[in-house]
Amino acid sequence: MDILIIGGTQFVGRHLAEAALAAGHQVTLFNRGKTGPGLYPQAETLVGDRDGNLDALKGRKWDVAFDPSGYLPRVVQQSAELLKDAVGRYVFISSISVYVDSDNADENAALNTMDDDPNSEDIPKYYGALKVACENVVTETFGDRGLNARPGFIIGPYDAVPRLPGLLWRYEQDGERVAGRPEQGVQVIHARDMADWLFKAVEQKLSGAYNMTGRPVKMNDLLDTVVSLTGKNTPVSYVGDELLKVRDIPPVDGVGYWVPTEAEGIMRANVDKVFAAGYTERPLRQSISETLEWLRREGFQSDNLKERIEGRVLSLEKEAEILEAFKQQS
Ligand SMILES: NC(=O)c1ccc[n+]([C@@H]2O[C@H](COP(=O)([O-])OP(=O)(O)OC[C@H]3O[C@@H](n4cnc5c(N)ncnc54)[C@H](OP(=O)(O)O)[C@@H]3O)[C@@H](O)[C@H]2O)c1
Repeated sequence: MDILIIGGTQFVGRHLAEAALAAGHQVTLFNRGKTGPGLYPQAETLVGDRDGNLDALKGRKWDVAFDPSGYLPRVVQQSAELLKDAVGRYVFISSISVYVDSDNADENAALNTMDDDPNSEDIPKYYGALKVACENVVTETFGDRGLNARPGFIIGPYDAVPRLPGLLWRYEQDGERVAGRPEQGVQVIHARDMADWLFKAVEQKLSGAYNMTGRPVKMNDLLDTVVSLTGKNTPVSYVGDELLKVRDIPPVDGVGYWVPTEAEGIMRANVDKVFAAGYTERPLRQSISETLEWLRREGFQSDNLKERIEGRVLSLEKEAEILEAFKQQS
């Protein structure tokens, strides 16, 4: 197949590109040429800007376009309009954040809106509602040739978000670690598993919305796996919610996927539809091992990741304070 990826050089797009190249497809990447230039010499790269300069896409045809880099409906509208008759199918990477409440949400659950500020382009504030509006553009333009993938927390090599990388960075350090509740569920998807299933979905001409994440695993199973892979025999103290809440630790990123009990629904989206449609996930141990290997090889050195970790992830100093408070309390 001839494949177009709008983006393709950071994380999810890289896994789409690698899955496509491994399957022998012809791959075209369209991006500004800023992120990861020259990563895939086997692919053609077209340079432009999806917001206002799509000229390089004009007059071309592809079997399918994957869009992992859309956040604003105004911008997704531009590629959708241009590609309406130039691609067979259009796959948009949306998010599980489209739901008002993702606790056991299936694809028909209530979606976020931005009725209070309908023209806003404030992505951090309206991330989920803006993804809903992007999905609507895809559905209106492509009908049953469009697919909206709604991933949960994505993991795997190349991850630019300091969640699993932040957690692994902490577990690479010496000493004891703080965690929340051992029984908390954690629901993640490997970017390559997502990419592989999306190719199957295209071949089967699937359309509409699909929640895309894994079956939840327990926090203590996740952390036991991490400790066994780092080989550091790290002691882990499960301190519960309160000591983390009073210190305003950011949920999800702060202490490696910890969320307070009342917010655990974000780790419980309903994934029956995608599993019934043939989605399979690799073992969690393999996902973590691949990510750790990548981080040790190049990720931990990247300035970008270091900066992001420093801003979002529990520092070792603060962790020591929490451990001290926990010991005094118990
Ligand atoms: N991480 C998670 O846990 C998570 C969860 C749910 C959903 N998601 C979704 O998954 C997707 C992740 O995307 P990714 O960053 O990994 O995708 P990616 O395709 O690997 O990287 C982003 C690409 O977009 C290109 N790009 C950025 N601005 C552009 C512009 N104005 N015009 C043309 N190209 C542009 C970048 O290249 P240049 O800079 O060279 O232009 C880069 O190639 C997002 O849609 C996100 O909402 C993520």
